[in-house]
Amino acid sequence: MWDPRFVMPNQAPPEGKRFGKSNVDLLSTRFPVSHLGWGHWYTLRELEDSTNEFADENVIGEGGYGIVYRGLLKDNSYVAVKNLLNNRGQAEREFKVEVEAIGRVRHKNLVRLLGYCAEGAHRMLVYEYVDNGNLEQWLHGDVGPHSPLTWEIRMNIILGTAKGLTYLHEGLEPKVVHRDVKSSNILLDRQWNPKVSDFGLAKLLGSDSSYVTTRVMGTFGYVAPEYASTGMLNERSDVYSFGILIMEIITGRNPVDYNRPSGEVNLVEWLKSMVASRNAEGVLDPKMTEKPSSRALKRALLVALKCVDPDSHKRPKMGHVIHMLEADDFPFREDRRTGREPGRPHRDSLMRATESGDSSGYDSGTLANRAR
Ligand SMILES: Nc1ncnc2c1ncn2[C@@H]1O[C@H](COP(=O)(O)OP(=O)(O)OP(=O)(O)O)[C@@H](O)[C@H]1O
Ligand SMILES: [Mg+2]
Repeated sequence: MWDPRFVMPNQAPPEGKRFGKSNVDLLSTRFPVSHLGWGHWYTLRELEDSTNEFADENVIGEGGYGIVYRGLLKDNSYVAVKNLLNNRGQAEREFKVEVEAIGRVRHKNLVRLLGYCAEGAHRMLVYEYVDNGNLEQWLHGDVGPHSPLTWEIRMNIILGTAKGLTYLHEGLEPKVVHRDVKSSNILLDRQWNPKVSDFGLAKLLGSDSSYVTTRVMGTFGYVAPEYASTGMLNERSDVYSFGILIMEIITGRNPVDYNRPSGEVNLVEWLKSMVASRNAEGVLDPKMTEKPSSRALKRALLVALKCVDPDSHKRPKMGHVIHMLEADDFPFREDRRTGREPGRPHRDSLMRATESGDSSGYDSGTLANRAR
């Protein structure tokens, strides 16, 4: 159906609705048309209708930016409507420009932003609806004694997430830093394909103290240590968070869990100590029924450890992460090059990766205080 509010510059309206040669210019004076090539804006009325007046039974969940509702549009498609807490009082124009930058990003492993609503003080984002919950729920929710997430599914989630992030970091100009990579921001479809959500939001909604004061930028446990000292995040900090995410997916443990014994509270430190004591198999999520080969496990652990290197410049780029995850002989070839003992090359590179300093930021009073 042709919608006058949504006209791409190179998309002609159907026959009978043409306005001559420069129909886009003409249209933009007649109708409110986006000049940036993207943008479907929804009226408040439309979103109220789709969510049954933002009814409680349509609430999917609530995060740091506001409440998310499930909506059913007139064309029978489901959407997720994020009703933003707008106490930053962002001007409509500024909001639109920044939202459009996010909206133009398309990738099969990124949740698609369909449009937005900016009426009066209301600020809402409308996303494609991803219908199988988020990764946090599947890893830490009540799924019974056996997780449906097999090793293969988990590796597929890691790889798909890496592809989405690589696109944000390396496929766009200007690049997009996610700033809040974590399991609740990885949504899943029925085939367990991962879709990264909320990219660009930290920038859009700001981290300044005028915005939701209880919220730190990023989420405790996933934030790179350099944030504690500089307060700055860049794409290398996303790589760090991604490393934590890999560990979480392999172990089924939270990045920081105060319910565990003291040596196990911090996931990175516990995992390093397990690997250092040659017990890599011991880190596997006990809810995973089939165990991976030791080679596959070590490959994934090594990538995770490289990603959380305390020295941000030593962390791999996301594109390199994909390469390492997909290369069958990683890290074997690397070890052969450095002349390690041929029988157990993987163990050597893994052991080396545990030897870098405290990468967790866990002992940092600054970070811990900020997170409270
Ligand atoms: N596009 C979507 N489709 C389906 N469910 C979604 C969608 N976007 C968000 N959700 C769900 O809505 C809930 C709230 O999400 P929200 O992003 O607000 O919180 P969060 O991810 O826990 O924290 P944060 O605000 O830090 O991102 C989560 O359960 C999330 O899985
Ligand atoms: Mg989220």
